[in-house]
Amino acid sequence: MRVLSGIQPSGAPHLGNYFGMMQPAIALQEQGDECYYFIADYHAQTTVQDADLLRSNIQRAAIDFLACGLDGEKSVFFRQSAVPEVHELAWYLSTLCPMGLLERCHSYKDKVAKGIKPSHGLFAYPVLMAADILLYHSQKVPVGKDQKQHVEVARDLALKFNDRFGDVLTVPEPVIRDDTATLPGLDGQKMSKSYNNTLEIFLPEKKFRKKIMSIKTDSTPVEDPKPTEGSLLLSLADATGMAEGAAEIKARMGAGGCGYGDLKQMLFEMLWDYFAPMRERREALESDPSMVEKVLTSGEERARATANETLTTVRQAVGVR
Ligand code: ADP
Ligand code: TRP
Repeated sequence: MRVLSGIQPSGAPHLGNYFGMMQPAIALQEQGDECYYFIADYHAQTTVQDADLLRSNIQRAAIDFLACGLDGEKSVFFRQSAVPEVHELAWYLSTLCPMGLLERCHSYKDKVAKGIKPSHGLFAYPVLMAADILLYHSQKVPVGKDQKQHVEVARDLALKFNDRFGDVLTVPEPVIRDDTATLPGLDGQKMSKSYNNTLEIFLPEKKFRKKIMSIKTDSTPVEDPKPTEGSLLLSLADATGMAEGAAEIKARMGAGGCGYGDLKQMLFEMLWDYFAPMRERREALESDPSMVEKVLTSGEERARATANETLTTVRQAVGVR
């Protein structure tokens, strides 16, 4: 099965990015699927318009993803901008893309509502994303729930293309894990950089603990049993997939006699230990930028080869060159 996903280099990864996208992506790699994962630096340009910042974000995203377990030998790992051919496919797709399809995209409206400049790039973002997906004949696209509509746009465009030009493009499907489809943030809304409610997975210990201690809880006294229904603390524990730890937190809540401070400390320990091997790998990668570059360059060679194969058939189908 050909799997593809991308992550924008727009800052430090948080628990939502990790459990919503990075971890499922890595699990597919371990399952033996043929995975293409990339850093969506062209997409990030819709919000990051400072060259030095973009460069350092790209480097950081590469290190973070590799530290989390992405394996450059098992997966094809690359920077989107190393295969500029994606814009050629985006153009062919945009000539087939009805305005209404883009006008219906929530993400554009949400971003504009949050104060991001409404540029043509931001509006056409889903077409470029469709080109990312279709250029590599991706069958499965693991993403968080908020990206589902974009994968549906890619499906629509593949169908339209095939309908007009013959059976050339592979029609992709989103893969969304139910349990972590939308991870809540520290305040209970969706965890997102734009809501300032994130828990970054590579924070130093003190800051990491402090953020966990700030999780919104109610005012049930220490000795009383705590409501488990609708508990943010518990849903965060559940979302980690660490069933044993989450069950213990739930049991202690139900029994009473354990304050929220202690319960949060349990969650802190669970998460801190979970990310320990990744922190270690991250340190090693940070001190070896040439290793990171080597992984990316080799992935980019493989990505370009696949992209060029697709484009040869696409050009033939549409009638250029
Ligand atoms: P943010 O909302 O913080 O800006 P991005 O839009 O950069 O995050 O998302 C990167 C990836 O992480 C996407 O696949 C997205 O679906 C996933 N993701 C982001 N936040 C969450 C969340 N709270 N729960 C599940 N997945 C998420
Ligand atoms: N839009 C995605 C996000 O913000 C990133 C992305 C770009 C992507 N191209 C993609 C994800 C192709 C999956 C497939 O998270």
